[in-house]
Amino acid sequence: MKIALSVIKADVGSIGGHLLPSAQLLEAVRRHVDQEHRGMLLDHRITFTGDDIAILMTHRRGVGAREIHKLAWDAFVAGTAVAKAQGLYGAGQDLLKDAFSGNVHGMGPAVAEMEIEERPAEPFLLFAADKTDPGAYNLPLYLAFADPMNTPGLLLAPSMAKGFRFVIMDVDYTEGDRIIELNTPEDIYGIAALLRDPERYVVESVWSRHSGEQAAVVSTSRLHNIAGKYTGKDDPVALVRVQQSFPATGEVIAPYAIGHFVGGGMRGSHQVPLLPVPQGTSVSYFDGPPVVSCAAYSMRDGKLSECADAFAHPFWERVRARVADKAIEMRRQGFFGPAMLPMAELEYTGIMETLDALDRRFQVRHGAEAAAE
Ligand code: F6R
Ligand code: MG
Ligand code: MG
Repeated sequence: MKIALSVIKADVGSIGGHLLPSAQLLEAVRRHVDQEHRGMLLDHRITFTGDDIAILMTHRRGVGAREIHKLAWDAFVAGTAVAKAQGLYGAGQDLLKDAFSGNVHGMGPAVAEMEIEERPAEPFLLFAADKTDPGAYNLPLYLAFADPMNTPGLLLAPSMAKGFRFVIMDVDYTEGDRIIELNTPEDIYGIAALLRDPERYVVESVWSRHSGEQAAVVSTSRLHNIAGKYTGKDDPVALVRVQQSFPATGEVIAPYAIGHFVGGGMRGSHQVPLLPVPQGTSVSYFDGPPVVSCAAYSMRDGKLSECADAFAHPFWERVRARVADKAIEMRRQGFFGPAMLPMAELEYTGIMETLDALDRRFQVRHGAEAAAE
């Protein structure tokens, strides 16, 4: 029997700016899911990373199931009521539509789901990031699934040697899902050519070529494409199955030691390194740095183990110190050059109005003679 893993996350309000949800808000979301799932779920976990609450659910209703999405939506609506009552900032921020309409896709919350044939032991990772966009996972997924410099399993494990299929989405295209499928190892230059532009091309899923099984899925929604204006960064979630014919846990999390620069941070408009953090960490410096958490689970018949918090290990303290240094170093150059995102990605419109006004004041000078007249 197939099991579906669904993670649906939203920011529906936080304490002291965009830092973290209140205990009461979390409790309201938790209570709603506990009380209303009526046997629909095999299991669930509710966690937060920065100001985002992620609801992880296991069930047998497949991907995109209306009642599963509605359960999460209604839990966030219940949370929003508490956020409003407590005067939390950005109450209901990610609920962009007034009424639920069948599926949370395009309604604000991020969603990552896969339906799997459960293995006798089913280890998987839930990544949750705040103050960044889904392209933040491009580099770690490329390294984990396509680069033997990171993943020795690509050389050592016969079931991984066949490579993986990457499904990559053009997230600028808003008429539907514009995707391309590329295979490793033969297409790695093409994959790299796309993934180098994480604001436009995003890994949506990764599949084993050995077994055909799905290994990973990423929430690909870009909020500014849905709302047409800035309503918060997308703050993506991802699920990655690990071990056996998939990369090992250590291979999947190793790339996060880089602290690669991602789009996000303050006003969603900067390039700041991604900080791997334990579960339940808020954001802080410069409305960031963008953070990512990794909850590792095992599962049997859809029942989840307790969470092993992958970035809570002492190793990551050293990484965090280095990433903090990188963040401060980049911030020293303020708005100049690569410290800020390119114009099309700036999440607030103020600068556009300034530039429009300045544009009207530009004059074209026609050579020395014209200047002398
Ligand atoms: C980034 C983010 C914050 C806010 C900033 C200003 O994704 O959420 O950096 O953009 O705190 O917030 P507002 O415009 O709500 O005052
Ligand atoms: Mg927020
Ligand atoms: Mg957030």
